[in-house]
Amino acid sequence: MGKVALVTGGTRGIGKAVSLALKAEGYTVAATYAGNDEKAAAFTDETGIATYKWDVSDYEACAAGIAKVEEDLGPIEVLVNNAGITRDAPFHKMKPEQWREVIDTNLSGVFNMTHPVWPGMRERKFGRIIMISSINGQKGQFAQANYAAAKAGDIGFTKALAQEGARAGITVNVVAPGYINTDMMATIPEKVMDSIVGAIPVGRLGEAEEIARAVVFLASEDAGFITGSTLTANGGQYMA
Ligand code: CAA
Repeated sequence: MGKVALVTGGTRGIGKAVSLALKAEGYTVAATYAGNDEKAAAFTDETGIATYKWDVSDYEACAAGIAKVEEDLGPIEVLVNNAGITRDAPFHKMKPEQWREVIDTNLSGVFNMTHPVWPGMRERKFGRIIMISSINGQKGQFAQANYAAAKAGDIGFTKALAQEGARAGITVNVVAPGYINTDMMATIPEKVMDSIVGAIPVGRLGEAEEIARAVVFLASEDAGFITGSTLTANGGQYMA
């Protein structure tokens, strides 16, 4: 069995592409999902990748879920914090629960998943932790005060943790995708979508596989000198 990689939100969208790309590289992959059992079962049938269900916003569930994955597959050496949600609204209409849900999942979820794997990675003197942030955590976005705050928070979290992990052989990095062709785009009204694509210099949305390849590189032994960095993959829309 190859090194164990855990991908949160790993059955759909960017997470699915990351799960498949890591599997193709020889990793033993565990993919988590939050909701749809049927879709997760279909994913396992299609890919042979094991799935586990828990809510990344729940610390106890993360700790228990990670313990189960490690019991089934072995120690987690690569963690990809991909799970994320949007609850877009202009700030004057944003409800406290829209703020909380996004912060709890997209920012606290990253703490909840990383904290339980950290001691094992420190002991084994190896780890790869990769955050999937967003262009909107770098540049801000109308109607995303919640999402932009969480995704920017993920970048700060990474920079702090990279310093703590460095001597223990743990690298911590961010991939910041731009607008990628996934289900998440379906929440954006069509006329807004046209102006988004118009603002992307390469003239198209990104593909999930293009993000997955960046993750595979950061997970590799070859990327051992890269830590605390943010790899931007957005078709030239924002050059951080
Ligand atoms: N910049 C400036 N003004 C904007 C704007 C923008 N980007 N988008 C909308 N507006 C304006 C509209 O023109 C409109 O103005 P008027 O009232 O003067 O006509 C106003 O804001 C919209 O107000 P509404 O009260 O109608 O807004 P709403 O409550 O219906 O909300 C919305 C609509 C949520 C803003 C919707 O337009 C939307 O979803 N926009 C897309 C937001 C977005 O890009 N999200 C990114 C999702 S992808 C993602 O998150 C993945 C990733 O990491 C990249």
